[in-house]
Amino acid sequence: MEYLLITRSLLFLIITCTATATESIISRRDLLGNGLASTPPMGWNSWNHFNCKIDENIIKQTADSLVSTGLSKLGYKYVNIDDCWAEISRNDKGELVPKKSTFPSGMKALADYVHSKGLKLGIYSDAGYYTCSKKMPGSLGHEEQDAKTFASWGIDYLKYDNCNNDESRPTLRYPVMTRALMKAGRPIFFSLCEWGDMHPALWGYTVGNSWRTTNDISDTWESMVSRADQNEVYADFARPGGWNDPDMLEVGNGGMTKDEYIIHFSIWAISKAPLLIGCDTRNITKDTMEIIANKEVIAVNQDKLGVQAKKVRMEGDWEVWAGPLSNYRVAVLIMNRGSWRTAITAHWDDIGIPPNTSVVARDLWEHKTLKTRFVGNLTATVDSHACKMYILKPVY
Ligand SMILES: *[C@@H]1O[C@H](CO)[C@@H](O)[C@H](O)[C@H]1NC(C)=O
Ligand SMILES: *[C@@H]1O[C@H](CO)[C@@H](O)[C@H](O)[C@H]1NC(C)=O
Ligand SMILES: *[C@@H]1O[C@H](CO)[C@@H](O)[C@H](O)[C@H]1NC(C)=O
Repeated sequence: MEYLLITRSLLFLIITCTATATESIISRRDLLGNGLASTPPMGWNSWNHFNCKIDENIIKQTADSLVSTGLSKLGYKYVNIDDCWAEISRNDKGELVPKKSTFPSGMKALADYVHSKGLKLGIYSDAGYYTCSKKMPGSLGHEEQDAKTFASWGIDYLKYDNCNNDESRPTLRYPVMTRALMKAGRPIFFSLCEWGDMHPALWGYTVGNSWRTTNDISDTWESMVSRADQNEVYADFARPGGWNDPDMLEVGNGGMTKDEYIIHFSIWAISKAPLLIGCDTRNITKDTMEIIANKEVIAVNQDKLGVQAKKVRMEGDWEVWAGPLSNYRVAVLIMNRGSWRTAITAHWDDIGIPPNTSVVARDLWEHKTLKTRFVGNLTATVDSHACKMYILKPVY
């Protein structure tokens, strides 16, 4: 289908122009040639639920629960430790030391445990002198040493925060860690947590596998939709190898309704955002599982085409988001941000399907293929703070 080809080549042009401003495509690939992130990363991170109150048992039990709930089979592979895992002082060789009171067995043993479950272990540091909690050192000035330490432990993912730095530009500090990771001898997913300050979408692909486009999310409707909006602006810059990151999931933490969490998960999925669970997976509810274990929605996120959806129409309180998928399919999200139930129409003109094309619609939350063949548009009635998500497949 021609419209898809046009979109892709336009995207390529935009990216090429942005790139040549600083360095060539070739040297960019050399900087971060770790081969990771062909689709957005999936897993879990400790911060949203546990903050600093983490220890090795929580991490191990979480790994166990990802397997026992079946979440790991659905693709949730990364078990990511956030801030507060290290002692405040480095050892006499200058190395980071896991906190003795909470990680007494050390990170190598923890990585071995997590790997034995078929999962991957992620860790956290900061492009400054201290991390955001100020409870442990950052990696600024110790990049090569820390990258080597992480690789020697068997770490698979690094989230790299931006607190307590020397006030130099992130574009100076982050690539130092990129090079250090590339020299460390182990493919390590590099997640830039620069909060969107210096438009990391414009340079993130040269440096990391994902880049935060926003400040931290919190477990409220307002916080969630505003992260989604800010992240959407940069849709053209996401692609296999590097993704926009509107922050981790709050699904299951209790601050939103089930419908709001469904919107949260749907937007993150269609936006090709990292799907990093942020709740306690050790005793996860049926409602939360229904959301984060929705295979059809996960498949949209993990589609090999890797194109981030855009908001294609807004009218009052309702929105239509859409993006192309492989095999000429289109993912569509119809969402009601207002207080009243309302009918919302997705027009083929808006979502990039030729006008007379007849499509079959699969409802990804009802798990039903609709009997109607749709031509030109699809209308759904949507409750307040609720959404509908479809895959449309042209039939000829
Ligand atoms: C969840 O499980 C953990 C350990 O498995 C337990 O410590 C915690 O209290 C549980 N939380 C709830 C809300 O049941
Ligand atoms: C769409 O179909 C109608 C009726 O079948 C036809 O008159 C019209 O020319 C078609 N439009 C396009 C763009 O193919
Ligand atoms: C939807 O398309 C049909 C033709 O397929 C047309 O009759 C109808 O007016 C359209 N509805 C809207 C809301 O655009």
